Amino acid sequence: MSPDNHEVRKERLKYILFVIILCALLGFGIFTIRKKSDTSNQPALISAEETTEATLQPEETAAAETSAAEATEDTSEEATEDTTEAILPTEPSAPGPIAAEVQHLYVRINHTQRIQLDLPPGVSQNDIRWSTDDPDIVDLAAGQVTGLQKGTCIVTASYGEEHVDIPVTVRELTIVNGITYVDGLLVVNKSYSLPAEYDPGLLPITEEAFNVLAEDAAKEGLDLYIGSSYRSYDFQEKVYNSMVSGYSKQYADELSARPGHSEHQSGYSIDCNSIDNNFAETPAGQWLAAHAHEYGFIIRFPEGKEKITGYAYESWHIRYVGIEHATNMYEQGLTLEEYLDVKSVYDDAEEETEDDAEEAEENDTPDEEE
Ligand code: DAL
Ligand code: ZN
Repeated sequence: MSPDNHEVRKERLKYILFVIILCALLGFGIFTIRKKSDTSNQPALISAEETTEATLQPEETAAAETSAAEATEDTSEEATEDTTEAILPTEPSAPGPIAAEVQHLYVRINHTQRIQLDLPPGVSQNDIRWSTDDPDIVDLAAGQVTGLQKGTCIVTASYGEEHVDIPVTVRELTIVNGITYVDGLLVVNKSYSLPAEYDPGLLPITEEAFNVLAEDAAKEGLDLYIGSSYRSYDFQEKVYNSMVSGYSKQYADELSARPGHSEHQSGYSIDCNSIDNNFAETPAGQWLAAHAHEYGFIIRFPEGKEKITGYAYESWHIRYVGIEHATNMYEQGLTLEEYLDVKSVYDDAEEETEDDAEEAEENDTPDEEE
C-alpha cells in the first residue's frame, strides 16, 4: 500500500467516526427532549382530572374529561391553555334557587334582624356568602343584619351561581313630647304608650281618608261606617277595666289595650261597623281587607300575627298610615310592628321563654332617645 492510499483511508475513517459521533449526539438530544416533555405533561393531566372530579358536578366533570382528553391528543400551546382553564377549581353550584322569606327587611338603628332563607336541599345557612352594596347602612354577620344609619341598601345572599337580593331599610325611632315615632309614623302598642294628656280627637286626615273609602265602598253597594273611633285615655281606662272585671286581666290584654296603650287614643284608628269577626266574612269586610290600603289604612291586627301585634285578630280595626306605607305593608304582608321593627309586649309580660327573652333583649335595647 502506497503512503498516499494509507492517508486516504485514514481520512475516510476519521470522517466515518465523526458522522457516528454526530448521529449519537443527535439521537441522545432527541431522546432527552422527548423524555422531558413526557414527564412535565403527565402529572398536569392527572392533577387536572383529580381537581375537576373533586370540585365539579357530574355534567361539569364530563365536560372537563372531554377537554382533558382533547388536550392529551393535541400538544399545541393553545390546547395547553384550554386544559389550564378546565382544571381551575370552580364554586359549587346550588342544586336549586335560593330565596329570602321576606321581600324587604326593616331594621332599626342598633337593632339586629336575621334574614331567613329558603334553601335547596343540601345547602345550609353556613354555606351562604353575604354582601351589601352599602356597608355604611348595615353591618352583616352571616345572616344577621344590624342597622347602622338611616337609609336603604341591598343585601345579597349567594351560593355558587345562585343569589338573592334583599332590600333592607334602616329606620330610626325618636320620642317627641312623650310620643314615639319611627321614621315619622306614630307608634302606640303594648311596648310604647301615649301620655295620658294626649288628646287629639279623631284626626282630620283619618276622617277624610275614611270618608273617601266609605264613598267608594257605597258605589259598590257596600255600607262601611264608623263604629268607634277616638277614645281618650280616661275612656280607654273604663273600657279596659270593664273587660278585666267581666272576664280576666289575661283575657282583657288579648282584646283591649290598657289606658295609654290604645291606638284609639292616637286619632288614627277606626273600628268599622260591628266589633265582631263575622264582619270579615261579609262583602263589606272583604272589600275593606282588599282595598283599605288604597286609602292609606291597614288592618292593624291581622289574623295569624297575634304574637307580633300582641292582640287577637280584629278584622274591623283600621289604622291610618298613608297610602305609600299602607300599600307597602299590604303587598309585603307585614304588620306595623314588622314594618317599623318594634315589639308589642307589656313591661310586666310573664310568659316569655328564654329564647323570647334573649331576642327581646337583643332587639329592644332602647335607642339613645328612649
Ligand atoms: N282593641 C284594640 C287593641 C284597642 O283597644 O286599642
Ligand atoms: Zn279598635
